[in-house]
Amino acid sequence: MNMELATTDRTDGAWDQVVTDTRVHRSVYADPSIFQHEMASIFAGTWVYLLHESEIPNANDFRAARLGSRPVIVTRDAKNQLHVLMNRCTHRGATICREKSGQAATFTCPYHGWRFKNDGKLMGVPGRDAYGNAFSRDRFSLGRAPRVESYRGFVFATLNQEAPDLETHLGQARFFIDQWLDQGGGDGLVVQSSAHRFHLKCNWKLIFDNAGDGYHVPFSHQSLLKMTADRYGGGDMTYFGDADKSSMRVYDLGNGHTLIDQREEMYNPSAWKQQRPQPGRETFEGSVAARKPQDEQSSTLDMAVGSGMNLNIFPNLLLIGNQIQVIEPLSVGETILTWYATTLDGVDEEVNVMRMRTQEDFPILGETDDAANFEACQQGLMSIPEEEWVDISRHVTTNTDRAERDGIVSGPVTSDLHLRAYFRRWKELMKVKPNIQTRPEGDAQ
Ligand code: FES
Ligand SMILES: [Fe+2]
Repeated sequence: MNMELATTDRTDGAWDQVVTDTRVHRSVYADPSIFQHEMASIFAGTWVYLLHESEIPNANDFRAARLGSRPVIVTRDAKNQLHVLMNRCTHRGATICREKSGQAATFTCPYHGWRFKNDGKLMGVPGRDAYGNAFSRDRFSLGRAPRVESYRGFVFATLNQEAPDLETHLGQARFFIDQWLDQGGGDGLVVQSSAHRFHLKCNWKLIFDNAGDGYHVPFSHQSLLKMTADRYGGGDMTYFGDADKSSMRVYDLGNGHTLIDQREEMYNPSAWKQQRPQPGRETFEGSVAARKPQDEQSSTLDMAVGSGMNLNIFPNLLLIGNQIQVIEPLSVGETILTWYATTLDGVDEEVNVMRMRTQEDFPILGETDDAANFEACQQGLMSIPEEEWVDISRHVTTNTDRAERDGIVSGPVTSDLHLRAYFRRWKELMKVKPNIQTRPEGDAQ
């Protein structure tokens, strides 16, 4: 059967043919019409992560972001209200804001000088008289996401008027987001450091696939693990060597969200002791030993390690270690992937300095391995159409899935449970036509 044709009629059956519980058709990663469908059904139809509130803490702050492939400006207005505005002038379509972030009460389009307030309203039109008396500024407000909601500082938006609220969407994942946020201690998470950016020639899902893949680690990251073993006798992540024999599991949290939990192995017996060598490690240990009572020393050292969680919030937010990783699809074979470092409010500065060394470690030494494989997969999927399928069947017949509390299901950490779980959600969303709207007040252009 020609799958390329089968997907274009977009019946429910067509989606069930291209994605099953054991395999995925290459067109899902390589067909531009499926990508366009995703930009509506998924990246407009469900909640998409944009930024953390601490990136725009003050009135009139803004940062550019993407809602799927749509460029947006996330603003705080003078009253601290959040807005997600389409970064597209209502005059002729030009990108209005060409800065990444900053402070602005208004945005002036560089082309003909139309000026918009940071809540999206059109304020000024040069030579307005030439448009006649009937000209209505209200009709020319910037497009906007009709729904914007935050969960503990994480800001999401959707263009779907009828999407369930954000808390319902996050569902069982909320419990683990809370754990992720609270594990380091302190008074709250802050995202204000610069970011580690990748512009990758791959479909966005290859990144999401990998985020719950406990199978690849000893192979893809062999050089990192071997270097650590040769120089320092082992350490962080060596428990992935024979991962199915470890206590690590992968969890299906529902709604496409998943988790790999490394914490039991990582804290056995001490996460700090397993950490790879880092600049400043001995100084930090010396300082903690000198300043902290004996019974607080180990927990203080552990504040500087990673979270031991890979918490994947479908479709574009990955909480890995202490970093916030964001997936922004540009086209079927092109994606921006950004790692944002985090610090903690209300902790000793040396804890944050050590956390930063940890956050420099894997994105530099490990993520490059993954990035090379994402692009190599895209190459293979794009260039040989006769070879049609990707396999997602690992542990499907081994009877190793386990029912956990509240409907959560877990499997061995090398299982493809993560892929099967999120592709089930992907198919649910692809089968419905969401009520997408960028002009919620009905101010049609
Ligand atoms: S395109 Fe923006 S003012 Fe003309
Ligand atoms: Fe990896």
